[in-house]
Amino acid sequence: MKVIAINGSPRKTWNTATLLQKALEGAASRGAETELVQLYDLKYKGCSSCFACKRKDGQHGKCAMKDDLADVLEKLETVDAIIFGSPIYYMSITAGMAALLERFLFSHSIYSSEIPTLYSREIQAGFIYTMNMTEKQAEQFGLKQNLNLREKMIKEKIGRPVKSLYSYDTYQFSDYEKYESSMFSEEAKSKQKAEQFPIDCQKAFDMGARLAVIYI
Ligand SMILES: Cc1cc2nc3c(=O)[nH]c(=O)nc-3n(C[C@H](O)[C@H](O)[C@H](O)COP(=O)(O)O)c2cc1C
Repeated sequence: MKVIAINGSPRKTWNTATLLQKALEGAASRGAETELVQLYDLKYKGCSSCFACKRKDGQHGKCAMKDDLADVLEKLETVDAIIFGSPIYYMSITAGMAALLERFLFSHSIYSSEIPTLYSREIQAGFIYTMNMTEKQAEQFGLKQNLNLREKMIKEKIGRPVKSLYSYDTYQFSDYEKYESSMFSEEAKSKQKAEQFPIDCQKAFDMGARLAVIYI
């Protein structure tokens, strides 16, 4: 059983990466082989709308773009579970994660009313989101409804509902004094980091453990 986590944050050791690592630890605790992909180490673009993946005579169902993402997309064909992770940037996922999903989802989309997906198996997936907002603010902005739409698109392709985890009010800087950040209380952020973030880490671990189960 192989579980892959994809970090859509440019920061390789911060909130999103930490939660993804915990999720992979959870998966490993169930015996899964695990891998963490750092998207921002790779050079790639979003879907170029070339439609090679839709051609009847070519690599139908496969993204034809040849860049650093090709290997990752190849791996996603064989893993048993995927854990996506992204910070919230302007109420959405990061550009790097959006570009990956464009290529992963569109190459498995088929313009046929009979076949819902070209992805060859049913696998599990989770999505971990981190953000500055509090849970209350996220509710006011209707963030979950927005993110749920994309999760539904993923479900259509991989056949199973996406499990999601939201980590709110994250600690953003190593030293708040060095940055203009007067809209935040460093004290409140520290408290959240000390009290809530470990709970989120445990939730991520549990998510990873739940995803490391092969469905028959
Ligand atoms: C370009 C940019 C845009 C952001 N937009 C939002 C936003 O719309 N809402 C929010 O709550 N946080 C926003 N944030 C904060 C990040 O989502 C938050 O710090 C996140 O936990 C960072 O993840 P990381 O520590 O894994 O990099 C933004 C950060 C950046 C750099």
